[in-house]
Amino acid sequence: MRAAARAQPNIALIKYWGKRDTEQNLPAVGSISITLADLYTTMRVEFDGALRADMLVVNDAENAAMLPRVSRCLDAVVGVDRSRAAITSTGNFPIAAGLASSASAFAALVVAADAAARKDHSREQLASLAGMASGSAARSIYGGFAELANADDAITLSTLCPAGEWPLSVVVAITATGPKPVGSTEAMETSRETSPFYARWVEQQQADLDEARDAIQSRDFARLGNVAEHNCLKMHSVMWASRPPMVYWNATTLECMDAVRQMQADGVPVFFTIDAGPQLKAVCEPAAVDTVRERLAATPGVEAVMVTGLGGGARLIDDD
Ligand code: PMV
Repeated sequence: MRAAARAQPNIALIKYWGKRDTEQNLPAVGSISITLADLYTTMRVEFDGALRADMLVVNDAENAAMLPRVSRCLDAVVGVDRSRAAITSTGNFPIAAGLASSASAFAALVVAADAAARKDHSREQLASLAGMASGSAARSIYGGFAELANADDAITLSTLCPAGEWPLSVVVAITATGPKPVGSTEAMETSRETSPFYARWVEQQQADLDEARDAIQSRDFARLGNVAEHNCLKMHSVMWASRPPMVYWNATTLECMDAVRQMQADGVPVFFTIDAGPQLKAVCEPAAVDTVRERLAATPGVEAVMVTGLGGGARLIDDD
């Protein structure tokens, strides 16, 4: 009754912001992401009839704050009458770095729990289960370029392009560490209820998804960068115009954005995207990765840079 799984975080190029059903955690819009290669979370799950309660250890420390969400996710994967579980999570990147650690954690968790309890869910079902815990986690079940589409009462996922078929690099500029001021669920609801731009954001998403999908299928880097930056800035405009406003950037985020703009003017194939946090993620062609890394590392205020390629979806690993 035990298994281990590993998953990597993903970064949305066409973003998910807003829910149409908070109970089922269904998104209001579809999204397209890239799954990263070199940053990962490993989850070990062991169901044990002798345990009286679930136990969660994250990077060697007991974590009571995340436990209710993890327990709910196990209930959804295995059933509420399940045995209690010992869950161990280890990651090779900082949780508070704004790198969607919940995406890799919940993707790995559902895959490990499914195997440990011999549930044998399909990949699509695992993605739905991961998505109930964290919307973006559904995409980390899949590798490479993944699209999450919104059907009537569910989500469906597909791989638009496997990781090896269009190798791109991602340079993450860490501009601040520390927990988010507002969690994404609360922030999305605030936007839905108060932002004058929210309805337009939802309305326009299909056009951005179509354009990005086309650009990925034709491997058109400039077109993908153009629609990704537009979609990112539009999401942040929705956030800025919410009441209370949500401004996740700091001055260094803007400095990094300016550095990307300058590189683009110099002909470097790079574009940026920013999630609900202050880190800037620069996506570039592999030949440009040294230039992008050096330029962002030299930007005043940048604390660290991380470089990765694109990788595969969540998978079981040998538990030793
Ligand atoms: O999965 P959540 O609930 O943490 O929401 C993720 C929201 C964004 O990162 C801002 C966008 C996205 O599509 O990943």
